[in-house]
Amino acid sequence: MPYDFDQIIDRRQTNNVKWDRRAEVFGAGDLLPLWVADMDFAVPPGVTAALSARIKHPVYGYTFPPPEFYQAVIDWLAKRHHWNVKPEWLLVTPGVVPALNLAVLAFTRPGETVLIQPPVYRPFFRAAENNGRRLALNPLKEVNGGYTIDFAQLEAVVDSKVKLMIFCSPHNPVGRVWRQEELAQIGDFCRRHQILLVSDEIHSDLVYKGHTHTPVASLSPELAMNTITCLAPSKTFNIPGLTTAVTIIPDPEKRRCFQQIQAGLGLEVYNTLGITAFTAAYQTGEDWLKELIPYLQGNLDFLLDYCARRIPLIHPVKPEGTYLVWLDCRRLPLTPDQLRSFLINEAKLGLNDGREFGPGGEGFARINIACPRPVLAEALHRLEQAVGKLL
Ligand SMILES: Cc1ncc(COP(=O)(O)O)c(C=O)c1O
Repeated sequence: MPYDFDQIIDRRQTNNVKWDRRAEVFGAGDLLPLWVADMDFAVPPGVTAALSARIKHPVYGYTFPPPEFYQAVIDWLAKRHHWNVKPEWLLVTPGVVPALNLAVLAFTRPGETVLIQPPVYRPFFRAAENNGRRLALNPLKEVNGGYTIDFAQLEAVVDSKVKLMIFCSPHNPVGRVWRQEELAQIGDFCRRHQILLVSDEIHSDLVYKGHTHTPVASLSPELAMNTITCLAPSKTFNIPGLTTAVTIIPDPEKRRCFQQIQAGLGLEVYNTLGITAFTAAYQTGEDWLKELIPYLQGNLDFLLDYCARRIPLIHPVKPEGTYLVWLDCRRLPLTPDQLRSFLINEAKLGLNDGREFGPGGEGFARINIACPRPVLAEALHRLEQAVGKLL
């Protein structure tokens, strides 16, 4: 393999959240961190080369996304996801989370309701709560150790105050890659209830064999007009610290509203290195990605096998996409508070507490497997030892 994902890169003291905030977040500076959704791998060489070339020029003044930036997105989506987007549909935001908040501000009024499906990425809750909007929850349904959308319940939780749905596709933390029938049903639901569909597709490139991500807006022109898609190469190519994302809005009127809010908040700001890395990632990163996915698959298989054989009381929900694995720890004799303390103090692991993802997260933890396999092996060994002592 030309790319060495087994290489252990010491990330300590680079001001990175995953490693350098351990003491602050977990109260323990020595644990193995497998939490925040970034990877412990070096980025594709084409990204480093583009950044190095740009850095050589000694002026880092105000910038804007050039035509190559837009073309890189258009080509990537056409090639990888069979979705043809027009350059004028693309707005550049300083991240997907900012885009979710902008969408809430642009398309709902205070007191109106945002619909989400927990357990789900915490900032989905915050996009509503921090902006004085209400939340309606349609918890995912657990079926045979996996998750589906509860469509009957969806009809029951909706009322006329629900104006916007934030949809996670693929879904963090349960790892579902929604099938076309499910997406069509969500699209139809939103259309019938006049709910704007905001689809967070940041994990869309990280999908395991046998599964296919479909951008929900690509299903039909009608659905495209009622959808805002939030995307970035940041998860795929490990560049989230460069804070650059795209928001795809085919409907010109909705685009105008979004842009107005974005400009009003002074958020039409672009990051010189972010634009450079974003463009290079989509332009040059595909071969790297084609090796990353089997490596992640190998990590996933390793974890599934390890848990099945050696830690059977912990059941990993097998993800169809994302490098995040939702661990069902409910068979351990621990309350949710005890589980948190056990993982930190006994297993010496920094994982995400399932409760961060809202209702349905109690008794779960989320592990990030985007690390060299020896590190994952060490993490699972620690977990096995700690569970052994517990019983
Ligand atoms: C579903 C989802 N959306 C958005 C983000 C973060 O997006 P950004 O860093 O572009 O704000 C994450 C990161 O974990 C995520 O899992």
